[in-house]
Amino acid sequence: MRFWRCGIFVAALLPFLWWAWQVAAGQAGPEPGQYLLLNFGQCALILLLLTLSLTPLMKLTRWKGFAVIRRQLGLWTFSYGVLHLTSYLLFILGLDFSALGEDLQRRPYIIVGFAALLMLLALAVTSNRYSMKRLGKRWKFLHRIVYIALALVLLHFFWVVRADMTQWSGYAFVGVILMLLRIPVISRALGRVRPRRGRISDTQH
Ligand code: HEM
Repeated sequence: MRFWRCGIFVAALLPFLWWAWQVAAGQAGPEPGQYLLLNFGQCALILLLLTLSLTPLMKLTRWKGFAVIRRQLGLWTFSYGVLHLTSYLLFILGLDFSALGEDLQRRPYIIVGFAALLMLLALAVTSNRYSMKRLGKRWKFLHRIVYIALALVLLHFFWVVRADMTQWSGYAFVGVILMLLRIPVISRALGRVRPRRGRISDTQH
């Protein structure tokens, strides 16, 4: 498990280091702040989708390690979300909070992104064993807000790229597939895939 943990830590850190390097080397285009903002936002969305793909994978393979990886990727999703917010505050708003109200009126999708990030924060702070034990059944219920967070992020993204939805459609398609895999009848079928294979091999031996 330590191998996976380290591998994921490095893999998740690499995009950050690469984009930071691009900015430092002056290769991030005319607007490095915007470059960071967009890349961090997309990275957070990709990580969110990856995190959500681990439960179906765990059902399919029965490998419990996916639960650990899921938590780690969830925390990285939140971290890139925070980097995205930080880029906005630093490079777009220039820390001029008096301009925030006007910007929110002009671009209400920022409020949607903020709501999604708050949900990711709730998930991040309750993703430890202590919270799991303390919250009991409510933990599962609370963690279902990840689906609302995904819907909000997709809405946030949609609002930004309304003029060209090619890229957005790809992410939305993956998101819809991941939600479909959670429909009880499909999810149960996923869980049955492996034992059936087991039974075949049992009869073969
Ligand atoms: C406080 C929270 C947030 C703020 C202030 C914020 C702000 C922004 C802004 C200003 C843009 C548009 C940039 C532009 O085209 O000018 C943007 C785009 C985007 N944001 Fe957010 N956002 C937030 C939360 C999130 C979260 C939580 C995610 C994902 C998990 C996310 C993912 C994206 C994506 C994918 C884009 C589009 C990137 C692209 O066009 O390539 N945002 N955000």
